[in-house]
Amino acid sequence: MAAAVPAVPITGKTLLSVNDLVVEFRTRHGTVRAVNGVSFDLRAGETIGLVGESGSGKSVTSLAVLGLLPSNATVRGRVVIDGKDVLRMPESADFAAASSRWSCRIP
Ligand SMILES: Nc1ncnc2c1ncn2[C@@H]1O[C@H](COP(=O)(O)OP(=O)(O)OP(=O)(O)O)[C@@H](O)[C@H]1O
Ligand SMILES: [Mg+2]
Repeated sequence: MAAAVPAVPITGKTLLSVNDLVVEFRTRHGTVRAVNGVSFDLRAGETIGLVGESGSGKSVTSLAVLGLLPSNATVRGRVVIDGKDVLRMPESADFAAASSRWSCRIP
């Protein structure tokens, strides 16, 4: 059986920390709560996957971390990259600079 070997050693340093993430969308039919209190950490050298049924909020979670949600979205919680809470960065350029180091595949 093949063993999974990290390409980069896991150093233990936390690079991304998502805490109690909530994402809601305002729609003409009311508010859709797409993500309801998601928390996880990603350490250097680690790869993580989000697993859940269709519509459970995997893509929306990833888009929130990358700062790519549409304008009808409201985000609460904390997304900390390199010690900076990117949800509270006033300039989108700052957000892009912080999250541009991440590679994220959203199916
Ligand atoms: N722009 C939007 N406006 C309103 N609701 C949205 C929007 N984008 C996503 N949603 C809703 O948010 C919820 C989560 O969607 P999401 O795409 O994150 O699910 P998923 O877990 O990635 O599903 P799948 O496995 O099918 O890809 C769904 O109910 C979806 O309809
Ligand atoms: Mg998806």
